[in-house]
Amino acid sequence: MGNMKTWNVARIKASKGVCKLPCLTAYDYACARLADAAGIPLLLVGDSVGMTLLGYSSTLPVTMDQMVHHTAAVARGATEALVVADMPFLSYQISVAEGLRNAGRFLQEAGADAVKIEGGALRVELVKALTQNGIPVLGHIGLTPQSVNVLGGYKVQGKTREAGEQLVSEARALDAAGAFAIVLECVPPDIGAAVTAAVAVPVISVGAGPDCDGQMLVMHDLLGLTEHTPKFAKPYAALAETMRAAFRAYAADVQNGTFPGPEHCYAPSEAAKL
Ligand code: KIV
Repeated sequence: MGNMKTWNVARIKASKGVCKLPCLTAYDYACARLADAAGIPLLLVGDSVGMTLLGYSSTLPVTMDQMVHHTAAVARGATEALVVADMPFLSYQISVAEGLRNAGRFLQEAGADAVKIEGGALRVELVKALTQNGIPVLGHIGLTPQSVNVLGGYKVQGKTREAGEQLVSEARALDAAGAFAIVLECVPPDIGAAVTAAVAVPVISVGAGPDCDGQMLVMHDLLGLTEHTPKFAKPYAALAETMRAAFRAYAADVQNGTFPGPEHCYAPSEAAKL
């Protein structure tokens, strides 16, 4: 039968130079359904779930089981978008065999279409093993949050000429190894443009400027649900304020007896007529 979704890996690849890709993270069924119906081509079940939904201060504590759980929910809601599962810290770094086994869980148990891994040339062997065994790979270079302790914080990458050239070479290595697209996070826009021009596959920007082939936002940043929006993100709604107002209004209605009203009550029971 093949993949009957509108957005598959081949179509994402073919979009380079043809149309821009507006990608989003998603972590649950309800939001995935809405984003899917809005025509978002790629939904990443990011390990950012650790911060957005689970309250951790980094992505490092996120486990395979948590990622499988959230990926399955997103996959149930996405009938047209490509669903990419983010491989969490230590699920692919130990060995290629372990990476392959864990990546396979996302397709087999959770219904993902592809996986994302952090790292460039270092991951070539793994990217080859995954793609040759039927698991499409989205690469991720630039700021790689699973390496926050080595990078010394969530800092802009590729700021020197050498660092920019290094990113171009990391992207070329992923492209040659078979990645179907590459996420490029937190780099100056000229580096975003240079990396995009250097590879045949789409480069998806997370704070890498307008010249990339697509953009990716964390859904909670787009919806205005995060406390601190990063510089590169644009909130398209102010849901935190809307939710706060709704919670307050509900509490007040219960306290003053306005809710529930007669319209929220079932017809009286037989006993009430006695
Ligand atoms: O976990 C995540 O949400 C990500 C994206 C920001 C690329 O890795």
